[in-house]
Amino acid sequence: MNSLRLQFRFLFPLVIVLVAAAYFSLPLIDKLTLRWFSRDLSLRGTLVVSSLEDSISDALRTHDLERIQKAIERVVTDERLLGVGLCDTTGKLIVSAGVFAPGEGCAAALETAGETFPVRSFAGGNVHVGVHPIRGSSGAVVNLVLLHDLSFIERRSRDTRRYLVILLTGLGLVVAVTTIVVAQLTLRGWMQNTRALLSDGGSGVENERRLGELAPLAVELRARLRDLEDEFRRALGPQLEWDPERLRSLLRTQLRDDEVIVVSNREPYIHEQVDGNIVVRRPASGLVTAVEPVMRACSGTWIAHGGGSADRQTVDAKDRVRVPPGREEYTLRRIWLSPEEEQGYYYGFANEGLWPLCHVAHVRPVFRESDWHQYVAVNRRFAEAVAAEAVSEDPVVLVQDYHFALLPAMIREYLPRATILTFWHIPWPNPESFGICPWRREILRGMLGSTILGFHTRYHCKNFIETVDRYLEARIEHEHSIISHQDDETLVESYPISIEWPGPRQVADWPAVDACRRAVVERLGLASNVRLAVGVDRFDYTKGILERLNAVERLLEKHPEWVGKLVFVQVAAPSRSSLEEYQSFQQRIQLQCQRINERFGGADYQPVLLLAEHHEHEALTELYRAADVCLVTSLHDGMNLVCKEFVAARDDERGVLILSRFAGAAREMTEALIVNPYHVEESADALHQALTMPDAEQRERMASLRMTVREYNVFRWAGRMLADAGRFRLRQRIEARVQRVRSE
Ligand code: G6P
Repeated sequence: MNSLRLQFRFLFPLVIVLVAAAYFSLPLIDKLTLRWFSRDLSLRGTLVVSSLEDSISDALRTHDLERIQKAIERVVTDERLLGVGLCDTTGKLIVSAGVFAPGEGCAAALETAGETFPVRSFAGGNVHVGVHPIRGSSGAVVNLVLLHDLSFIERRSRDTRRYLVILLTGLGLVVAVTTIVVAQLTLRGWMQNTRALLSDGGSGVENERRLGELAPLAVELRARLRDLEDEFRRALGPQLEWDPERLRSLLRTQLRDDEVIVVSNREPYIHEQVDGNIVVRRPASGLVTAVEPVMRACSGTWIAHGGGSADRQTVDAKDRVRVPPGREEYTLRRIWLSPEEEQGYYYGFANEGLWPLCHVAHVRPVFRESDWHQYVAVNRRFAEAVAAEAVSEDPVVLVQDYHFALLPAMIREYLPRATILTFWHIPWPNPESFGICPWRREILRGMLGSTILGFHTRYHCKNFIETVDRYLEARIEHEHSIISHQDDETLVESYPISIEWPGPRQVADWPAVDACRRAVVERLGLASNVRLAVGVDRFDYTKGILERLNAVERLLEKHPEWVGKLVFVQVAAPSRSSLEEYQSFQQRIQLQCQRINERFGGADYQPVLLLAEHHEHEALTELYRAADVCLVTSLHDGMNLVCKEFVAARDDERGVLILSRFAGAAREMTEALIVNPYHVEESADALHQALTMPDAEQRERMASLRMTVREYNVFRWAGRMLADAGRFRLRQRIEARVQRVRSE
């Protein structure tokens, strides 16, 4: 309808122009044709006269008027010649033929002599008057007057006018139809381009080509739309924020306050003997960072390996301790492992086998038979502990990570009605890579004891489903992401993990950003105007620490202006240090730091500081708040929570995050500077970009990142999993009731 209106707007002026053209051109054409014909008739007259001239001269000489009469009568047989008259110089008619008014005819005709356009009205029409002097042999001059009929010209003019109107109408119609067709095609093309322009058709040459000259407009439009979307989201804030209270209410309503048991290898609170005192330490573990706030909200029991030197001293007779210390919101049940068990199950099978297997980070997985036996035995011990801790027949058990691949199926043996949610915190490789593991089938069967199996990303889910498809006899419903194996169903789903978003009271306790900066600069003995880049990791080869140091070195090479002005601080919490692979990696990093410092440092300047020691949460928050840039360059990471903690710590909306595209977090945190850590040049350039990024851009990026992390916090992660579990339990209860009714 709109397009018709648009076309009408164009056609209306076209019609006006055509009508005006016809209106003004017709009289002009009349006039022109009359002139042409008049000239034509003068010529004809000359021809007629030349054919009569001799015989009239002769006849005049002999006064043979009859002969002249006959001659001119012959001439008027021409239908266009109305009349012919022979007049003497005084205007008297000598002889005439056809319609020639006697008397005044000659006088009137002779008046026209010499006119270029000798036309007169005669008998209701127009006639052309041609006056042709003829000299007789006696020397006397007479005038032969020819009256040509002009009515045929009027007839022709009428015809011309009709044809012209038809021509202009036809032309108008052709122009109108062509215009409509071209306009329709252009409009359609334009609409398609506009649609492509508004839809996120992706980037790249193909898309640019498709959009043609609209491509730059598309870039601008999309940028503007993103700005508007950001503004809108910012103004709106998270619609229904996930917080501990919402999680608790979900537990009450959808899980009827059912019992929750968490199992992980690493415990959330470690009691250590330090100089004769017992201190509590929080481990450097993404898993603990994420699951602990959930556990505080849900209460229940957390079963974990008691690895601290004072752990045994702090538990009760049933190996339980209430935590967090001083707040006592849930129970920590500790499991004691012998050195052989720890060696085989934890260091051996989990960290020398499964860890490198799943991360595919250029360290060969090692699989030993003896480690496998310990892994099976320890999984069994934890399954027994779950059965012992469970007070109901159908608890909700949250099994954490690659240390417990066999646990879900084992728990099901003891508690067939339990709802088992297993979360795999690290990546899952493709089927070929996983096929390296000699016990691949046992591991897959163990995991499929779960009701729900969670990974951080869809990609890892897909890899897992393909692995099951390759190595087990199982039915896979791809549409619903459900695997049926030996009468059990497992939902394989992605649940991106996160952190607890700091509440207002916690934020109020943080020192100001300036104060944090001063404290860090002072503690580390740095110059006060130094620019600070930080990295915070466990000392692990998957974290890309070496690649990060290479990027810092390349930056100093490429941009010597940063020498003396930039300090990179790497916090590396010691991890799995009794493994040779970790020891050699740590040595390599130390050497690399030394080398860079020797190359670019001096007496009072070291570009790289390696802090290879455990840092408490408060110290890390201080460092994050003091930093200009935070580098997360994992070579492969399930999610990575350091980047989320950095963002959460920056309530001043400043600081730049550089993030590896191989960390699961890169899928959500797109406003970070995303890099390929293997590409040293790219990472060095990103570092330079971060250090020179204007305040306004930092604020834009950081504000958007903060919104994402706040909205997709760890309570949402747990809430989504528990809600799925709630739906599953409801279905189970309904099925059980239906069974009962049928059997009665
Ligand atoms: C990763 C694993 C966790 C583990 C953490 C620390 O995040 O996914 O399961 O707890 O590393 O490693 P550690 O071996 O010290 O527990």
